[in-house]
Amino acid sequence: MTSPESVSFGYEDVTPEEKTARVGAVFSSVAKKYDVMNDAMSVGMHRLWKDRFVARVKPREGEQILDMAGGTGDIAFRMAREGASITVSDINQDMLDVGIERAMERGIDGLVWSRQNAEELSFGDRFFDAYTIAFGIRNVTRIDAALAEAHRVLKFGGRFFCLEFSTTEWPGFAEVYDAYSHKLVPKIGQAIAGDAESYRYLIESIRRFPKMGEFEAMIKAAGFRHTKVEPILGGLVAIHSGWKV
Ligand SMILES: C[S@@+](CC[C@H](N)C(=O)[O-])C[C@H]1O[C@@H](n2cnc3c(N)ncnc32)[C@H](O)[C@@H]1O
Repeated sequence: MTSPESVSFGYEDVTPEEKTARVGAVFSSVAKKYDVMNDAMSVGMHRLWKDRFVARVKPREGEQILDMAGGTGDIAFRMAREGASITVSDINQDMLDVGIERAMERGIDGLVWSRQNAEELSFGDRFFDAYTIAFGIRNVTRIDAALAEAHRVLKFGGRFFCLEFSTTEWPGFAEVYDAYSHKLVPKIGQAIAGDAESYRYLIESIRRFPKMGEFEAMIKAAGFRHTKVEPILGGLVAIHSGWKV
């Protein structure tokens, strides 16, 4: 039985069940080419955004950190360097498998890899010192549920950090980026990963994601306090943060 509510899958409106299934198919399809595509699409800039994001999180030795929608491990690897204990969770086993293989190649051990749906975590209450989610939240079907779960699993004094595409407010740049992303990204996806459709979804999902202020309000509604938004490239990408107090 399907639910009558509808959610966005790129530019389409679909049932929540269909979104979860189709997002799963997108990431299973791109998993093996995910890292090389990230470099190609962002001309390597995603590495700088991720470095900046982790610098804001300030992971410390002895901390328990949950990297949600952690995919192939980019954020987790950076945080593990700082000595924190990292649990990498993702709904998609194909993405996690690529991450586990990358960790082995790099000699990074000690990470916990746990398949989880961000909307319904199996972790206990107040377990983590920090919760990170990078380029993941827009793919989650019920964003409110994921934010509520993030709040639940954090300790008091715990911090929430989200890195996500948003909407640039720089005039001129917005139009150039729009043309690039809609016209070129699916072509790059076809050329490198043999999959234009998945990359079309990824671009469309950016357009449908709430703007910075609206998303910050959702973070507040989940119970986080002292929320902050740090726009990068005028808001093309943004770092959202909040505290559980
Ligand atoms: C664009 S990737 C980001 C991966 C990684 N965080 C990074 O920055 O490279 C988005 C990830 O979100 C995951 N995802 C989508 N819906 C999810 C959900 N409900 N719960 C957990 N992970 C989810 C996908 O499987 C995918 O691995």
